[in-house]
Amino acid sequence: MRKKIVAGNWKMNTTCQEGMELAKAVVAKAGEVPANVGLIVAAPFTHLCCLSEVLEGTRVELSAQNCADHASGAYTGEVSVSMLKSVGCQWTILGHSERRQYYGETDEKLVVKTKLALEAGLGVILCVGENLDEREAGKHFDICKTQIENVLFNFTAEELKSIVIAYEPVWAIGTGKTATAAQAEEIHAFIRKVLADKFGAQVADDMTILYGGSCKPSNAAELFAQPDIDGGLIGGASLKADDFLAIAKAY
Ligand code: 13P
Repeated sequence: MRKKIVAGNWKMNTTCQEGMELAKAVVAKAGEVPANVGLIVAAPFTHLCCLSEVLEGTRVELSAQNCADHASGAYTGEVSVSMLKSVGCQWTILGHSERRQYYGETDEKLVVKTKLALEAGLGVILCVGENLDEREAGKHFDICKTQIENVLFNFTAEELKSIVIAYEPVWAIGTGKTATAAQAEEIHAFIRKVLADKFGAQVADDMTILYGGSCKPSNAAELFAQPDIDGGLIGGASLKADDFLAIAKAY
């Protein structure tokens, strides 16, 4: 059985103090979420050290939102995977569309970052997804396939066990426009097929594939009921503990 996960991506929101309060509020009611649903919060770098103390010994795991594409050295402003490990991080998001769009994140860089993260013992939440033009041109399958091929096909089936995919259609992120459950399921099933063709049915079947893009308490249950949707990567709604937990409880 593949793992179900609901992860909150706080993006560039909250001060460190607000983040601590939010994490405490999530922890306080985390017991209401079914035990088979993994909970992750992905916070800004500045918060991670303090948050790891708040989350220690709880079921809520800690993620970064990015990492450097070098192990160490003269890269001013960057944060390495060993730094993330040293503050108690268990995961990092990689390849979020906002990083691809605004910060020149390429698939080539994502291969390097993913390799570094896995070597350091971090799990990776790898984001893929098409933008509106690509969706309207009917290219969404090709775009997702290429992103998966360019990054994940450089890794082994064993390494894939530490990787989760998040399908996030760019046109649904922060827009209030959710992909319908059918639209999301169609791509999730397709991504699983791409994985099966390369790595075999068992590996594909074990892969956790999350949906992200305007996921909220009111639509989570329908999305999560789809056979190939294994949870969510939640942006805006993860900034309210009750909404985040209500989404996780939708299982
Ligand atoms: P929203 O839930 O705010 O649409 O963001 C989704 C997202 O980008 C999560 O990584």
